[in-house]
Amino acid sequence: MSNIPDIASKDGGALSMGGPGPRHVAIIMDGNGRWAQARGRPRLFGHHAGAKRIREVVEACPKLGIEYLTIFAFSTENWKRTQTEVAGLMSLFRRYISKEMTALATKNVRVRFIGDRLKLDEKLVKLMDNLEVETEGNDGTHLTVALNYGGRDEVARATKRLARDVAEGQLNPEDVNEETLPRYLDTHVLPDPDLVIRTSGEARISNFLLWQSAYAEYEFIDTLWPDFTAAELGRLCRKFGRRDRRFGKVKT
Ligand code: FPP
Repeated sequence: MSNIPDIASKDGGALSMGGPGPRHVAIIMDGNGRWAQARGRPRLFGHHAGAKRIREVVEACPKLGIEYLTIFAFSTENWKRTQTEVAGLMSLFRRYISKEMTALATKNVRVRFIGDRLKLDEKLVKLMDNLEVETEGNDGTHLTVALNYGGRDEVARATKRLARDVAEGQLNPEDVNEETLPRYLDTHVLPDPDLVIRTSGEARISNFLLWQSAYAEYEFIDTLWPDFTAAELGRLCRKFGRRDRRFGKVKT
């Protein structure tokens, strides 16, 4: 029997049960802009609605056996949006981290941030740092927020640190391999994602967790992020449980 409960679903478990669910789920929360536009509202209205969906999804994780949840909040490419949208998103992140995220902290959620903090404003970085410290003793869901994150940028920053270690004699070039390189990535303390979900019907990964997702299963779903629910996450986890993951091997 599956260990993935049929949360918030009225299908009575109609989907057949399979193996274990994903331990680490990563989500590209896309479609906020279109959700707002469909309602004749500005794009930021969609981002606010999107932010409100996060809590339900985080709270569903323990019930679904998800230990790690990583969400893509702002990419290294998102700076190319209008100044109004970027400023609105930054202000949303500040507000969200100081209120909503702090509420999650009391629910045993451990919060981490990945991405390049150097380009973010000091006030925001301080809130991020504080929340990481405030939640470091929590042992419930590991929530990682990718903020000013890009997979290529992460690999470039990691390579720079690795090259410094080689130059200083801390690392032998012969020891650079698939085990040692990821220790320099922002995600060094996280397991690789098992399931990557992208909402809004786009089938691309947009520079998200490039190294880490080498063997992830992907789900591209039409739902716009502000309409995403815990029930839909449960359905995707059950579907994941029925997948045959071979990691390059053949079925025996
Ligand atoms: C993509 O939708 C979404 C973003 C670039 C921002 C994601 C942010 C949130 C979900 C809200 C805030 C998050 C936190 C952690 C507080 P889009 O704008 O590209 O939508 P579109 O493709 O329909 O235009």
